[in-house]
Amino acid sequence: MRGVLLAGGTGSRLRRLTKITNKHLLPIYDRSMVEWAVEALVTAGVTDLLLVTGGSRIGDFMQLLGDGHELGLHTLNYAVQEQAGGIAEALGLAESFAEGEPIVVMLADNVFEWSFAPTIAAFKADPTGCRLVLSASDDQDHLRHLGVPEIDDAGAIRSIVEKPQDPPSNFAVTGVYCYEPSVFDIIKTLVPSGRGELEITDVNNHYVDAGRARYDVQPGFWGDAGESIAAYQSVGEFVSRNGANKTR
Ligand code: DAU
Repeated sequence: MRGVLLAGGTGSRLRRLTKITNKHLLPIYDRSMVEWAVEALVTAGVTDLLLVTGGSRIGDFMQLLGDGHELGLHTLNYAVQEQAGGIAEALGLAESFAEGEPIVVMLADNVFEWSFAPTIAAFKADPTGCRLVLSASDDQDHLRHLGVPEIDDAGAIRSIVEKPQDPPSNFAVTGVYCYEPSVFDIIKTLVPSGRGELEITDVNNHYVDAGRARYDVQPGFWGDAGESIAAYQSVGEFVSRNGANKTR
């Protein structure tokens, strides 16, 4: 399965730490944030990866990750996102890499206690529409910083609201998304959001509206280490005590 790892953006929420480097090169316990993400994808069965990042630090990523063989990849490709135009814009750069095949996409600041391999296996078995990974949370304040699905009584996603004032459920949409190849046509129809970005939530809502979005609820800990300094610190503490990307 081909994977796309998104490691661009401005890292503005970790400002003091990201003035001279890219957020995903910051350490989480004993390695860089991006290495945990590569490990997550390799553990889930990704063999060929495209890493998308801004131009200014791409040399550092290449020095760190090389051709990806040491981390278990067959191939590792790199693409440059000129401006932080949004997650969906960054994903759009992967169209030729995908070569019309289904893909799994991961945000490189996401850290999972348990491997999301079961989600990738389920998508491989039926690679249509999109398949999302949700994480349960009772923390309303936290949910206001994330994408949150509204789920109906039958368990289907009705819509996804990005950074909701009033979260419609106790689930966060994490940064792992499986897509059929039509995702690149959807991205071409998007218009920038209020914050000037092409939003991945708008992509996902296309599939939701068509009744073609499925999901799994991820067990255990999930963290977005780029959300705030506090989140970065708590993800690091969790990983140093418990590890990440574990398989049963
Ligand atoms: O972490 C999960 C959340 O990620 C989801 O719940 C939200 O629905 C989703 O929109 C996203 O929200 P964030 O506000 O956390 O996104 P952020 O701007 O921090 O970007 C997340 C990752 O995407 C980051 O690790 C780098 C990459 N990125 C982001 C932008 C804006 C890019 O590669 N290029 C970009 O232009």
